Amino acid sequence: MSASIAFEAGMARRPRIEVIGLLKTFKREGGSSITPIDNISLSVGENELVVLLGPSGCGKTTLLRCVAGLERPDEGEIVIDGRTVFSSRKGIYEPADRRELAMVFQSYALWPHMTVAENVAFPLRSRNVPKLQIAQRVADVLKMVGVGGLEGQFPSRISGGQQQRVALARALVANSSVVLFDEPLSNVDAQVRAQLRFELQAMQRRLGFSGLYVTHDQTEAMELGHRVAVLDSGRIAALGTPAEVYNHPPNEYTARFVGVANIWRGQIAGARGNSVDVSTELGLLTIDRAAIVVDALAPGTPVSVVVRPEKLRLHSARPDDAPGRIEVVVEAILFSGPHTEIVVRRNDQRINVWMHESNDIAALTVGGPAWLEVPSKDARVVPPEGRAKP
Ligand SMILES: Nc1ncnc2c1ncn2[C@@H]1O[C@H](COP(=O)(O)OP(=O)(O)OP(=O)(O)O)[C@@H](O)[C@H]1O
Ligand SMILES: [Mg+2]
Repeated sequence: MSASIAFEAGMARRPRIEVIGLLKTFKREGGSSITPIDNISLSVGENELVVLLGPSGCGKTTLLRCVAGLERPDEGEIVIDGRTVFSSRKGIYEPADRRELAMVFQSYALWPHMTVAENVAFPLRSRNVPKLQIAQRVADVLKMVGVGGLEGQFPSRISGGQQQRVALARALVANSSVVLFDEPLSNVDAQVRAQLRFELQAMQRRLGFSGLYVTHDQTEAMELGHRVAVLDSGRIAALGTPAEVYNHPPNEYTARFVGVANIWRGQIAGARGNSVDVSTELGLLTIDRAAIVVDALAPGTPVSVVVRPEKLRLHSARPDDAPGRIEVVVEAILFSGPHTEIVVRRNDQRINVWMHESNDIAALTVGGPAWLEVPSKDARVVPPEGRAKP
């Protein structure tokens, strides 16, 4: 694969949502402008949940609002279930109420003057479903999201986690085949969030809707998304399954944003056979050609080497026959249960290593030396930091 940011997997499903070459610029007070959607193309397949992951202000809500019909893009096309709902070229713009989808907003946005049951019934009432059927359906959905029995309560009298569940129920009640989620779990505490994440995944599988799910929480993104799109100020920096994005980040931005990464700047020193030598701040590293995602391999090409902490190994003794190992100084040894985090230093580079129990860990001492092994197949060579390509 070249420096491309999209992976092939998952593309074969029939698309429910297609976003093609979307562009949206806002004017700001004082005359400047901002482009939170800068040529984005993305599709969501049948029964697929695609997560939009990115820091605050990168354009996640704006993209969702464009798909929902609450914001009018400047350019591009949006197709939902085969129907074009926006096209700058063809002059099509269907308003929100003509798009067949449900949305859960960043704040719960429950109507305070309506009971839980009335809130959840609202999407059905506006579709003229018979009263008796509504009551049954509302009770079923409330039970499904774990707040059965709260029908007669008002939103201000129930907990945040319960309000969140009611908001989910309202989005799911009409059985929309496409659901948009804007950080629906951001207002509940970590424990409830983990539980709701688990339940949401089960409901998605059971109801089989397709969804776009916005979050800035990478754990949430990895756990929930069939695919994850990592956003960088209006552009897609990476798009793939959680494992692809984590194990094969196509650029420094993705490596930094998803998980913990050690990143070293350097240049290509030379290529031979199946491996490439990269001269880095740490020393000369030999890396498998398959792990290289820069286009040019000419000596001197600036690159960054990315290695996840759990892929690195530390040895307590100087090896006789492994010239690739790099001498470092141990700065800290932090036991964290599932693994031990060892922070080591070489010159002014700090390096994170996660290891499971081993004799080598027992033999390390803070302030003492260790020898770092960078496995040639687990390091990634990516373009040095820069904005994602449009
Ligand atoms: N109506 C608007 N007018 C001007 N600028 C806007 C408008 N709406 C959003 N923006 C700007 O567009 C950028 C993207 O905003 P958006 O709400 O999409 O971010 P986000 O990724 O959802 O962030 P968060 O994680 O904080 O919710 C921000 O810089 C924001 O200030
Ligand atoms: Mg937002």
